[in-house]
Amino acid sequence: MNGDRKLRLGVAGLGRAFTVMLPTLARDPRVALVAAADPRAEARERFAADFGAKTYATVAELCADPAVEAVYVATPHQHHAAHTRLAAQAGKHVLVEKPIALTLDDARAMIAAARAAGIHLIVGHSHSFDAPILRTRALIDGGDFGAVRMIAALNYTDYLYRPRRPEELDTAQGGGALFNQAPHQVDVVRLLGGGRVKSVRAATGAWDASRPTEGAYAALLTFETGAFASLAYGGYGNFDSDELQGWIGEMGQPKAPAARAAQTFAGAGEEAAFKNARNYGGANYRPPAEQALQHQHFGPVIVSCDKADLRPLPNGVMIYQHGTARLEQLAPPALPRAEVVDELYAAVVHGRPPLHDGAWAMATLEVCLAMLRSAREGADVTLHHQVGLP
Ligand SMILES: NC(=O)c1ccc[n+]([C@@H]2O[C@H](COP(=O)([O-])OP(=O)(O)OC[C@H]3O[C@@H](n4cnc5c(N)ncnc54)[C@H](O)[C@@H]3O)[C@@H](O)[C@H]2O)c1
Repeated sequence: MNGDRKLRLGVAGLGRAFTVMLPTLARDPRVALVAAADPRAEARERFAADFGAKTYATVAELCADPAVEAVYVATPHQHHAAHTRLAAQAGKHVLVEKPIALTLDDARAMIAAARAAGIHLIVGHSHSFDAPILRTRALIDGGDFGAVRMIAALNYTDYLYRPRRPEELDTAQGGGALFNQAPHQVDVVRLLGGGRVKSVRAATGAWDASRPTEGAYAALLTFETGAFASLAYGGYGNFDSDELQGWIGEMGQPKAPAARAAQTFAGAGEEAAFKNARNYGGANYRPPAEQALQHQHFGPVIVSCDKADLRPLPNGVMIYQHGTARLEQLAPPALPRAEVVDELYAAVVHGRPPLHDGAWAMATLEVCLAMLRSAREGADVTLHHQVGLP
């Protein structure tokens, strides 16, 4: 760590998002997990045992803990705004999960609270933090391949059939693919396309009446530069686009091309209880397996520049040019999602402004909301809150 100190992190919400970040937060030498808050007693007990750290039933108490200098807000979307405000008012830096919020007004209020408190607000993890995406962006910035003209991104998963809380199946409460999956894909595409989307046209699919929220979408994004991007997402558990990624899964893990059996539940209560039991501290919680990983991804992406097509992959970036293909290899990650700590640590400890700040995430949310609106109205939607890359 070159004499640098550890960043003292408190966690708000010990659910699925936390367990996905846990291998990073527990093993990255730059981070000390010093406290957590969750209403679930079993999660608090496990956290206290695993990290010898303090736990609280409420986020307000967590934010009052002087040992905490930054809070990872990993509570359900509807709490992001209030929990970010609490942390900011207590002078803590904030890493808040995607999507930043459910409305642009809430996002704006979070940005204002961060600014008033003089703290950094970072939104993630999203898959635009993935090293192959950042490397592709660096190759574009290098200038050898010319301007970005077109991006194609697709992802086919079993998203809709993973165990859910009731609100995750209700679009009005932040459920569905547009609030939960599109923030990743839009963030990736915006990062590669330069950030500033001019207009959006989209169609959405909600095809299973028993899970009545969007499970699929297609969208065309046009950038201010004239570049355009097509996004396709299918979450109905049939085709699995990891087949096109060499059977490397979203978390960078090797994956068997096995059929996915959807779980069935007697009702929403049983499903939520099943999800909770698998969460941190629950009876069926299993820590993530430690295995050799490649880089994480959010499905196949191809970036067409003037002079080459670039394709980020779990092990590097393929460059297609003049009828040849070569791999710009990336070393396997020592830790998954270390890029999130890179950005958080640089901001909190070294005062370096983050890329994935509140304004960046609000622009991604604006695109996701515009996709919903475009599908509803059958029309193009013009955007007004876009920001570019620093
Ligand atoms: N980046 C990613 O890969 C990723 C993955 C999963 C979830 N997420 C995001 O993380 C957030 C949480 O989703 P999840 O799937 O982890 O949900 P979850 O239901 O698995 O976990 C939520 C946790 O928050 C706790 N909680 C609820 N209300 C709380 C409160 N008022 N104060 C403190 N804790 C509270 C719950 O007890 C639970 O432990 C969402 O915004 C989601 O989009 C991101």
